[in-house]
Amino acid sequence: MKIAVDGPAGSGKSTVSKVVAKNLGITYLDSGALYRACAYIGTVTGKDGAELVEAVSHAELEFDTAGKLFLTLNGKTEDISTVIRTPEIAAKVSAVAAMEDIRTLVTDKLRKMASKTSVIMDGRDIGTHVFPDAEYKFFLVASPRERARRRMKDFEAMGFNKTIDDIEAEIIKRDKQDSEREHAPLKKAADALEIDTTNLTIEQVISIITETASNK
Ligand code: C5P
Repeated sequence: MKIAVDGPAGSGKSTVSKVVAKNLGITYLDSGALYRACAYIGTVTGKDGAELVEAVSHAELEFDTAGKLFLTLNGKTEDISTVIRTPEIAAKVSAVAAMEDIRTLVTDKLRKMASKTSVIMDGRDIGTHVFPDAEYKFFLVASPRERARRRMKDFEAMGFNKTIDDIEAEIIKRDKQDSEREHAPLKKAADALEIDTTNLTIEQVISIITETASNK
């Protein structure tokens, strides 16, 4: 079984998908983490364009069973789960994710990771591009202010102090870049169920997705 959960930054995709995966006993895969990893590889190697694509093609990226992401680059393995969540990477990732060759590498990797198991995968192009045949597709939205509020809590927990206005401006910019890019842009699949999470609790969104995917 494949479940696709797409939507803009801060719409609640990963929080909800993690719990639904547990409820249904399937694997959660965070596609955004792989794009963030590509941006991180660009930062640590100082590479861009075709050179970055080359570096990414030689890198190994693996999630462990707890969902931590490990990068092996030039023979050295590190847990990059936290370093890919910084405001610096958030500001860079959309430009990296707009590159066609990067998308091809990440999409192939995601399909391979999901090939032998039932998954719920969140992202921007899962229902439209990565798994157009997914059995269940959801598209989560929420107002930019509410999404900024949620992101601010994440940043505060990591020790970054940013104003809500700055975070809102950053996510609006990122959504625009993600929606307007040429290759596999952020878009609701025609057969996806749209859920506006602005005034819903996390538990309510989890129930909608779990019950729909359980055919209840
Ligand atoms: O979901 P998250 O905010 O971690 O995603 C980070 C970025 O990765 C997005 O803003 C987008 O540029 C890119 N992305 C993508 N396609 C996906 C998932 C993420 O382009 N399927």
